Amino acid sequence: MDRSAPIGVFDSGIGGLTVVRELVKQLPNESILYFGDTARVPYGPKSPDTVLRYSREIVAFLRSQGVKAIVVACNTATAHALPALREENDLPIIGVIEPGARAAAAATRTKRVGVIGTAGTVKSAAYEKEIKRLLPDAFVFSQACPLFVPLIEEGWMDEDPTRLIAERYLTPVAEANTDAVVLGCTHYPLLKSVIGRVVGRDVRLIDSAEETARETAGTLRSNNLDAERADQACYRFIASDAPETFLRVGQRFLGSSIDRVETVTLG
Ligand code: DGL
Repeated sequence: MDRSAPIGVFDSGIGGLTVVRELVKQLPNESILYFGDTARVPYGPKSPDTVLRYSREIVAFLRSQGVKAIVVACNTATAHALPALREENDLPIIGVIEPGARAAAAATRTKRVGVIGTAGTVKSAAYEKEIKRLLPDAFVFSQACPLFVPLIEEGWMDEDPTRLIAERYLTPVAEANTDAVVLGCTHYPLLKSVIGRVVGRDVRLIDSAEETARETAGTLRSNNLDAERADQACYRFIASDAPETFLRVGQRFLGSSIDRVETVTLG
């Protein structure tokens, strides 16, 4: 495999750009091909079978584009599809749940951990299982926060309705006396300050994106797949629908501007 080939990154839509942001920061030599399934977002409320089918289609597309490794930058897709994708493909595939769970296990002192995510991620109990594999006597309190995704995509990071909804969702997390809370959804890093205010300033918020980028770096290195040239990184963004919205809203997630979005329809 060509070491200068891009890393394929996919998400149900725009949110996975929070992972791209970290990849660009930590792996500046790597090229990235991002696929956001904006035609079929959200994955959060969909069944595991549907999310697995979508994920398989995206992986086949990314492989057809010659990627050297794949980052599943979507918590819901990681929860429902990662084991099958790894079994079916002979290239490194990195998800967001193992790195996030590892960071939470390292951060907690009281072994009381909160996990917030989409309905699908919480129902799968994937974070809970992984945290308990690392810390068998941990107490994990999970809470689905489905209204956060549309609020964030609307740009309402610190509006009154967002604060009220955050209080409603997160007061039980605060009352569970957790000392670390995993932001188990691609969008939630953008809501860090509101979430932090409700769960308490002394609670560590775990951003899976940072940990996932670190794990990706390690995986590329151990497979001799890390890019060798420093001046060749290029980025391609593909959406399955509404590229103008991707372009406009995506900047908020990526933290820098996107010049061009291609459209590719799957399924
Ligand atoms: N990307 C999804 C995740 O991280 C959130 C958006 C959706 O529901 O598709 O779980």
